[in-house]
Amino acid sequence: MREALDQKRAQGKTIGLVPTMGALHAGHISLMERARKENDVVVASVFVNPTQFNNQQDLLTYPRTEEADCEKLAAAGVDYAFVPSVEEIYPEPDTRQFDLGPVAEVMEGAMRPGHFNGVAQIVSKLFDMVRPTRAYFGEKDFQQIAVIRRMAELEGFDLEIVACPIKREDDGLAMSSRNVRLTPEQREIAPAIHKTLASSVEWAKDHTVEDTIKYVVDEVNSFPHMQVEYYQIVDGRSMQPITDWAETDYPVGCITVYCGDVRLIDNIKY
Ligand code: PAF
Repeated sequence: MREALDQKRAQGKTIGLVPTMGALHAGHISLMERARKENDVVVASVFVNPTQFNNQQDLLTYPRTEEADCEKLAAAGVDYAFVPSVEEIYPEPDTRQFDLGPVAEVMEGAMRPGHFNGVAQIVSKLFDMVRPTRAYFGEKDFQQIAVIRRMAELEGFDLEIVACPIKREDDGLAMSSRNVRLTPEQREIAPAIHKTLASSVEWAKDHTVEDTIKYVVDEVNSFPHMQVEYYQIVDGRSMQPITDWAETDYPVGCITVYCGDVRLIDNIKY
């Protein structure tokens, strides 16, 4: 990978990297297309990173569709599919602890201890191996992008991190590799997450932050199979929860919901 890309870099070519954990769907493909438009060379990585899973069951059941993924990458015009083994990425345990600060302490950081440190480990390794001009991440994992920006700043990576809009199914469900684990009944109910978030934007116009959070939580929980883990409205840059709309010009609501035993996340800008 390094050798191939060193040559491209020497020719003055720009490199776009799309890191993924595979089980590719149209959301991922939209990242590839954006990278394709903006760079001379596109690299996609497919690696289910064990260090970011704090739940072994989640790691074991994470969908793996390597062959189909490579076909989709070729069809999307990706130049290099980088599909390393765990041994190649972690020849020895990665003991690095990143000082990710407040952006990584709330929401996913609080619920999934060690998760963001694992994301920082793998993404820093990928940035180091690929040395991309730009790297592309989907906004479904809204907080993850802030954490990666922080890691890149800490490590002094000279690249542009490009945040790309959430891709949704026709019924509004945010595309996710985990959606395939929903039963048909759960799949029918799951779009209620986005519908509720979208309707909360109207509600928020004449309600407080606290009332808006309660509205979303109560509404989503009223559906069978659905259990909200958290709903927080945060400043979209610092990720810190707000209690008053006047605290930020960029309020974003971030939700995590268990639909049966499938953990789904989504977010909305107010
Ligand atoms: O968002 C993901 O799929 C993963 O967290 C990432 C960024 C590919 C790192 O493993």
